[in-house]
Parts: sequence; C-alpha cells; structure tokens
Amino acid sequence: MSAIQPHGGTLINRVAEGEERTELLSKAARLPTIPVNNWTVSDLDLIGVGAFSPLTGFMNEDDYLSVVDTMRLKNGLLWSIPITLAVTSDRAAELSVGKQAALVGEKDGVIYGIIDVESIYTVDKRREAIQVFKTDDAEHPGVVKLFDRPDTYVGGPVRVLNRPKPVKFEKYYFDPAETRRIFAENGWRTIVGFQTRNPVHRAHEYIQKSAMEIVDALFLNPLVGETKSDDVPANVRMKSYVALLDNYYPKDRVFLGVFPAAMRYAGPREAIFHAMVRKNYGCTHFIVGRDHAGVGDYYGTYEAQDLLRSFSPQDLGIMPLFFEHSFFCTKCGNMASSKTCPHGKEDHLTLSGTKVRAMLRDGVCPPPEFSRPEVAKILIEGMNEASKSYAI
Ligand code: ADX
Repeated sequence: MSAIQPHGGTLINRVAEGEERTELLSKAARLPTIPVNNWTVSDLDLIGVGAFSPLTGFMNEDDYLSVVDTMRLKNGLLWSIPITLAVTSDRAAELSVGKQAALVGEKDGVIYGIIDVESIYTVDKRREAIQVFKTDDAEHPGVVKLFDRPDTYVGGPVRVLNRPKPVKFEKYYFDPAETRRIFAENGWRTIVGFQTRNPVHRAHEYIQKSAMEIVDALFLNPLVGETKSDDVPANVRMKSYVALLDNYYPKDRVFLGVFPAAMRYAGPREAIFHAMVRKNYGCTHFIVGRDHAGVGDYYGTYEAQDLLRSFSPQDLGIMPLFFEHSFFCTKCGNMASSKTCPHGKEDHLTLSGTKVRAMLRDGVCPPPEFSRPEVAKILIEGMNEASKSYAI
C-alpha cells in the first residue's frame, strides 16, 4: 500500500536526537539568542516534525516574497502562508548571515531550537496583510497579530532541540510520521482530514459523515494552537469531541488527533495551507465547507473553495471535498444543504452565534438538530467554569 506523498515528496524531519542533540544544545548555549513566543515555538515544532513539509526552516527572503506574491515557494511548489521568524532590530543587529542562533522560549528560557541564519530582511507588513489576509484592517485577528510583530525576519533551516510539552490531552498529539503509520496499520487507503477550531455541531457532523460515506476514515484534526480569545478553548472542545465520537461515530473509522498550530484566520489562503498540512499527516482528502478559516465578513462564503479550485490536482496533491452551507430542514426532517433541500429558509433551523451563546450561558441546550446534547452539556459546563462567552 503506498501512502500519499507528503507535500514536495519528502516528509521532513528536523528534530535532533541523542548525541547530536546534546552537542547542539551545548553549542546553542554559546550562540546569540532569538526569543520566541508560543506561536513561533509551535511553528518551529511543526517544521521539525514535517507537518510543514517541504519547509526545513523559517522562510528566507526569496521564499517569503514568492509566497506573499504568488502563493508559491521559490521552487514553484504551492504554499500560501508565510512561515516566518520575526526579530526586533536590536536582536537582528547581533546576528549574521552564515552564522547560527538559538531559539529560546521568551517565558520559559527553554532552548527550543537552532537556526542557520540564511537571510535577515525587513518586510512590508501592510503588503503582507493585504496579500495574505486580503485586508489591512487592524480589527482582523490575523492582521492584529501580524502588526504586533517586528518587521525584521530571519530565515534559514532549523533543528528542533526541545519539543513543546502538551499541557493537556497529551494522548491526542501525533506527529505526521505517526499518523501515517497508524492510518496504514488500520488499512485505510483514503482518509479525509477535518480542520476545526470549533465544537463539532450537527452541520460539521453532517459534512464529515457525508465524506465518510466515500472514504475509508475520518481524521478529526482540531486546531489547538493559539486562537482568538472568544473561540471555545481547546480543552473544552477536546472534551466535546471525545463525547461526540464516543456516542455517534464508528470507532474503527475515525481517528482523533490535534493540530497544534496557531489559527491565522486567513480564510482562502489558510484553507490551502490546511490542506497541504493534512496531506503531510497522511490524508488523501480534505473537507472545505462554508467560509473555511474565515472570520467576520472578510471572506465570501465559498471563496476558500474557489481558490482551491483554481489550482490543479497536481499542485494540490490532495483531493478537496467541498460542502455547501448545511443546516437541519424541518420539512425534510434531516440535515441538508441547498444542493439537497427544496424548502425555503423558513423551514431551516438557523441559530445565530449570539443566540446559541445566550442559551448555553443560561444553561439551556440548543435543539438536538443543532448540537448533540452531549456536546451542548460540555459547552455549558465549560462556559460556567470560565464564566465567559465564547463564539460557537
Ligand atoms: S475553521 O475556521 O476551522 O474553518 P470551523 O471549525 O467552523 O472553522 O469549520 C470547520 C470546517 O467546517 C470548515 O471546513 C468549514 O468550512 C466547515 N463548516 C462549518 N460550518 C459549516 C456549515 N454550517 N455548513 C457547511 N460547512 C461548514
């Protein structure tokens, strides 16, 4: 059985082990340091384990400009999101091209990795914002993050020397080499990846199960890295996924594993990125529904689908599965979309995020046609614990 090729053909491994790691660690202690936040540590680790194959490090200037302008790496391979290492100009002054630097956790002082400095360059962040996020609106959560960073970037290959430790749900962390092995051991030849930063509601369940009808298995791969503050926290979501799978999914056809990356909220470009990464984890198919990775009204409902469609199957190397906006239709008596339901909006169960939040805050479960009671119960508990409202 031949597993799907990673993006670019090789599953990258930049994690140093054993003696080599020990040597690099003692070398790193003598190098100039670059402080890194949790987001950059997660990018570093995902490069290290090959989730971002073919990247072997943070983008140098050539790749950065090429990705920002053309959605391709310098070598022509499709890549839509810059993966970069930002440093203050003071730090940059201590670095030199051709030398190395240690990547050190800004809070914990852990040496997470080492970089061979290939380029040090200053960027136009407004331009990056407009190209990647299609807006430079400082209200956009991805743009806010971008504008918060220094505008000097350092590019070059990395080695990972320490892995970030999962705080919770450790047993759901798998590297791409492991998911690939597990998929093969289960005899699954076609696996559909599902990205989410939300609890799985009935619409999500519907599109997942529609996809499951045509593939061997579902890889439920929730993003658990940094998200905006009103998204449901990952630990609450993880509980809800486990409850949902236990009650409504066949155990031998679903695999739950986290995607420990930060959410960019880059809509269409992030959908491409999400698909490439899931290919690296071993998925053959990837679900893209309505407003994938979107936020507010920045992107059109099907813009992410349109962008994916604009690339050739060879460029993508993974089959996107597109789904229309899905809902429960009271006349049909089932989940549906405009592709399968002839009835009007008045027959469709639609609940605004605000309404559902208010219900959960008051301890009221939304109707089972919107959310499974087991999921709603966990969200209510999570909300009570944090006593704040989350987007749903
Ligand atoms: S995302 O930011 O991670 O994309 P979310 O967790 O809401 O957000 O969505 C996960 C996936 O389900 C995305 O592919 C999204 O397009 C899709 N999706 C979410 N809600 C619906 C819906 N009601 N109908 C169809 N697709 C949906």
